[in-house]
Order: sequence, then C-alpha cells, then structure tokens
Amino acid sequence: MQDVDAIVKEALAVFEGIDDPATLEQAKARYLGKSGALTELLKELGKLPAAERPAFGSRVNAAKERLEAALKERRERIRAQKLEAQLGQEALDVTLPGRGLGVGGQHPVTRTMERIETLFRSMGFDVADGPEIETDYYNFTALNQPENHPARSMHDTFYLADGKHLLRTHTSPIQIRYLESHRPPIKIIAPGRVYRCDSDATHSPMFHQVEGLWVDERVTFADLKGVLVEFLRRFFEREDLKVRFRPSFFPFTEPSAEIDMSFGEGWLEMGGAGMVHPNVLKNVNIDSEKYQGFAFGLGPDRLAMLRYGVDDLRLFFENDLRFLKQFN
Ligand code: PHE
Repeated sequence: MQDVDAIVKEALAVFEGIDDPATLEQAKARYLGKSGALTELLKELGKLPAAERPAFGSRVNAAKERLEAALKERRERIRAQKLEAQLGQEALDVTLPGRGLGVGGQHPVTRTMERIETLFRSMGFDVADGPEIETDYYNFTALNQPENHPARSMHDTFYLADGKHLLRTHTSPIQIRYLESHRPPIKIIAPGRVYRCDSDATHSPMFHQVEGLWVDERVTFADLKGVLVEFLRRFFEREDLKVRFRPSFFPFTEPSAEIDMSFGEGWLEMGGAGMVHPNVLKNVNIDSEKYQGFAFGLGPDRLAMLRYGVDDLRLFFENDLRFLKQFN
C-alpha cells in the first residue's frame, strides 16, 4: 500500500508542473477521483485493525484537504498567469499619438459646383433650388413645350408610375418656380441633379446642370455672352479661352444657342442658352414687353471632367474611394 505522504508529495509535484486548467482537472481525478490514489487508500481502511482505523482515516482526509487546497491555489495561479500574458500582449501605450479618424473629403463634382456658385455669386447671381421630382407642367409645358411639341421627345424622360410626375430632365423648371414667386430683376443660378434615360462614357442617367437666369428691363444677348465668357475664363483660369455661340433650338429660348469652348484643336459643347422666350414670361405673368432676359444651362460634370482631366463621366458616380481620394 502506497504511503499517504508519498502520494501527497507526488501529487503536489504534478500539480505544480501543470499550466492549463484541463490537464489540472485530469490530474485531480488521478488522486482524488473515484478510482484515484487516495480514494483507493480509503478502500483499504476496512483491512486495518480497528484501533488504527481512525488515525488512518484522518490522515487520508487531511491529505485530501491538502490536495484540494493545492489545486485551488494552482487554478488561481494558472488564471493569473493567463491574464498577465494577455495584458502583456495587449499592452496599450497611452503616450503614442492617435491614429486619427479618416477625414472625409468633398466629391469632385461638389467642389466644382461650389466653385461655380462662388464665381456666379461674385457676378451678382443668387442661388436657387427646386425639386428633383417634377410635374409635366414645370418640366415641359410652362417652358413652352406643349403636349405634342416635338421638343418633348428630345428628352428621354423617366416618368413616375403615377403618370403625373417625372424626374426632371433639366434644371429649367426651377426658372418657372422662381419666376412664379419673384418679380424682376431676377438674377439666379440653380444647380442640381437631373435625370435622363442615357448611359455611356459621357452620359449618366443622373447628371448635373446649372441653370442661369437673368431677367430685367434691359438684359441682352450681349450680357449673356459677357457673363458666360467671363465665367468660363475664370473657371478655367485662362484669359485667352475662346467661347463660341452656335445657333440652336430650345422651346423656352428665342434666339437659342449652343455654347462651345475651344479645347485643343477643336470645340467642346458646354451647354445651351438663349433669350427667355416671351411665352415663358407670359406663363408666369411677367410683362414680356417690359422685361426680357437670358437663360443658360451648363454641365458641371463636363466642367469637372475638363478641369480635372477625367475622361469617363461614370467614374464620378461609382463611388470608388481610390478615384475620389485623388481630389482631396
Ligand atoms: N434646359 C436645356 C437642356 O437641358 C439647357 C438650356 C437651359 C438651354 C437654359 C437654354 C436655356 O438641354
């Protein structure tokens, strides 16, 4: 029969050498479990002379308690070691400078819009706004495009399911809304998103326009040319920039022109313009004998592409941060 002290000595040494909780519990079973060494000893109790039994029993019980205490201590030690190791690994140096949050930046088209607004404001224009979901009346009818006017088919329009509304195809409806609620002199630009069923490298179903409108008693085509040439030269920071006005047609302007800008060898179309059609003024109860004015529509996306040297319009709307980060 193994001696109690020898078992205790051995068990204590084994416990001391164990570093993980599972192995420790297995070791416990070897000494204190149902068929553990100490338990086996107790089973021998009956074989001893009656006089020796109490003393032996209490020795075994004392040994059990000793081992339980050692186990408890070892468990705690293992837990403490694990925590120390973890804290060592996750060391936090509070004296290091912070990594900082990623700083957001402005979208190149937004930057361009703001530049356009700044330049026009410096020429005395206010900035107006209007809804992107429009009625047929504001998008077409009030702009001198009757129901069956062929100009309506110039726009591939997104109509809403209700049959009454549409996504505005240009910023010109803002002209009407502004003219309805203000009296001349009126001198505004109206930047915003517009929508057409169109998609390729230079057309996106959503794009931007900036409308311009100046109505007063003596606003002429010369003012239109002066304002647009001045704007484009200041926008591109090139005094020698050439601008061309090519005869064109819009139902809401008469005469109408396409605005082209010299670019390298050739010309690039920058937008449309013209003198506000008298019918448009009539539709908003402004005396077209007394007042006249001009309107224009420019493409800020095109302006941004040229300014930043981007050759695919779609890049602006794909939200690829690798592309967008280059502008900040
Ligand atoms: N609204 C026209 C378009 O989208 C542009 C334009 C605006 C033309 C104002 C003349 C005057 O094509």
